[in-house]
Amino acid sequence: MKRSIILGTGSYLPKKRLTNFELSEHLDTSHEWIVERTGICARYIAAPDEFTSDMAVKASKNALEMAGVDPQDLDMIILATSTPDHTFPATATRIQAGLGNTKGFAFDQAAVCSGFIFALATADAYLKQGMATTALVIGAETMSRILDWKDRRTAVLFGDGAGAVVLGAESNTDKGIIGSFLRTDGCGYDDLYVTGGPSTTQTVGTIHMNGQEVFRHAIHKLEEAVEEILKKYSIKKEELDWLVPHQANKRIIDATAKKLGLPDEKVIHTGADQANTSAASIPLALDQAIRDGRIRKGDLILCEAFAGGFAWGSNLIRI
Ligand code: UT7
Repeated sequence: MKRSIILGTGSYLPKKRLTNFELSEHLDTSHEWIVERTGICARYIAAPDEFTSDMAVKASKNALEMAGVDPQDLDMIILATSTPDHTFPATATRIQAGLGNTKGFAFDQAAVCSGFIFALATADAYLKQGMATTALVIGAETMSRILDWKDRRTAVLFGDGAGAVVLGAESNTDKGIIGSFLRTDGCGYDDLYVTGGPSTTQTVGTIHMNGQEVFRHAIHKLEEAVEEILKKYSIKKEELDWLVPHQANKRIIDATAKKLGLPDEKVIHTGADQANTSAASIPLALDQAIRDGRIRKGDLILCEAFAGGFAWGSNLIRI
């Protein structure tokens, strides 16, 4: 049986860092409220002429460099995003061109903040099936473009950025993606959505969220996402080395870590500095922790996310 193994990771954050203090100069909010309710202190904001594809290309180049893979050797590129450059074509094709790849196929995948979890599971299935041999999986978002900057309930929560992972297929190894758990429930559609779209309003729209309802579901569904995947692959909680969670809210992450019995030192937190970068948050966190030496070869990591849709899931990976 083939395994999809991580050959390299990369990430990119825009130059502009916006702190809670700066935000509260124009919005009826405070650093104290944002930190207490979410753990967020700052976020990065893309420059006006910087697009999702630009950030994705930069993150991807870093990942390809770490992997030692030539862009032409990629035969599949999946971009997880809710903030594509245009309605069509797939932003992934623009990334493909930006990397100078002409041999593979590229497409976008939408599962909002769970996008990277879904895209990694998709790439894993393609690699195991032999539909591809070397894959690039990216999470990249310009969430700042779909925020209502006058709405304090959502404007304080999100940021921009990109993260990428290069995957290769290997036989006879215990490394790589062990498995994934994916779920959606469309009953939650109206609790977290963007108010525009091509077929409804012909506008881009802004994020609308029923925060308390999303919070309640996130706690419950993430418990399912981590427990079910461990059960399915017969892994004990104690065997986990790291939790690499989606960074929506520190309180949600803490609740999941507590369920797993993982101390805070075994949880990768990036939300304080980067806020919620939706599909980009997990690959950003993964790249940071691999590059600073916390996550090492052989470590067993669990990634999880909860998102609009609702969509939630997890990936279990031996690095
Ligand atoms: O990544 C996708 C998944 N997303 C999530 O998982 C997010 C889930 N939800 C959450 O993380 C939390 O619900 C929020 C951080 C969004 C909100 O925290 P909360 O503790 O649920 O606050 P709340 O919505 O119950 O609001 C409490 C109060 C309200 O005032 P009143 O009605 O009690 O007077 C809000 O109007 O806080 C007020 N408030 C704010 N005050 C200062 C809401 N936003 C702000 C703000 N600054 N930015």
